[in-house]
Amino acid sequence: MNQLILSPDENYRQIDEWISKNKCNSVILVCDDSLKYQEELGAYFKKLAEKVKLTSFSEFQANPLYENVQDGVKVYRENECDSIIAVGGGSAIDVAKCIKLYSNMSGNGDNGEWLDLQKTNSRTSFLAIPTTAGTGSEATRYAVIYYDEKKQSITDESIIPDAVLFEPKVLKTLPLYQKKATMCDALCHAIESYWSINSTSESIEYSKMAINGILDNIDGYLNNTDSGNLGMLKAANMAGKAINITQTTAGHAMCYKITSIFGVAHGHAAILCDRVLYRWMINNIDKCIDSRGKVYVCNILDEIGIALGGDNAEYGAKKIEEIFEVLELPVPCATEKQFEELKNSVNPTRLKNHPVCLRIDEINELYHQILYNNS
Ligand SMILES: [Fe+2]
Repeated sequence: MNQLILSPDENYRQIDEWISKNKCNSVILVCDDSLKYQEELGAYFKKLAEKVKLTSFSEFQANPLYENVQDGVKVYRENECDSIIAVGGGSAIDVAKCIKLYSNMSGNGDNGEWLDLQKTNSRTSFLAIPTTAGTGSEATRYAVIYYDEKKQSITDESIIPDAVLFEPKVLKTLPLYQKKATMCDALCHAIESYWSINSTSESIEYSKMAINGILDNIDGYLNNTDSGNLGMLKAANMAGKAINITQTTAGHAMCYKITSIFGVAHGHAAILCDRVLYRWMINNIDKCIDSRGKVYVCNILDEIGIALGGDNAEYGAKKIEEIFEVLELPVPCATEKQFEELKNSVNPTRLKNHPVCLRIDEINELYHQILYNNS
């Protein structure tokens, strides 16, 4: 599916056009707090509410619950909505994706029933306006919600938004730490997708474009220029398209527990892992499990180094370490008990996408390189 890219120019005229083209009469606006800080976008939606029925839905938390989605579906049905606009970070977009999917299913979803029901292709018009440049959620078929305290990865091709609007101004109010961390998330998506055993020529093209976009725009983005912010939104979207094909790999499998134990942002945790993993892979290429072979993976690691502006893998690994240093993101300090917890936390499914085999003792060794030791 080709995702339509809308421009915010001329007071969001292209959203009006999207609404009339898709014959939207009743829109659910799934938005997080970030919309409160967006004067122009907020004013646009106020005006839009005079032309179409617009129902806001913000009753969801940062790591959204299944029950939040149930509430959203209720609001969607009660207001006879026919279309969805999501404004926010990954959580808002993920909630909107699940509303799109589940509002199309029978029943009211009690006792987690929608998680087990056969999915049906939803054709609801869906526009996403990401307010961070990182998750790439607006480009993927994945959504993460929690049911019974367990993470549920929802996957369906039909939940990819059919249109996306990149508004560089939304990044101006984002705290610097969030900007750094979300950019690192996009960078990790691009490199993990590049070396994934599921990579294709198409996903590799997306990864290259994402890496180029990140490097070209990093200064402008961190200095909050419109062009830097726009470039980073587009780069994060490319990285999202890449993981939409390949999924992520060991870096992401290892980073989730770092986030939950130390409270660091997801992208911060991801680059903590990937800056160590890249070099470890170069040194352990003999444990390659990619069916395309060791030479192929060696070339890929070199190609990533080239995309990062050098001529080999060694340069690439150094460049990731350098980006991490420049951003001045702290390295958490773990106790032996926490290292034990981390070692046992890794999702083996993600490790299967990783081109180099990782045993549990090696995961433990890597965590000791990723984090400081408190003892
Ligand atoms: Fe991520």
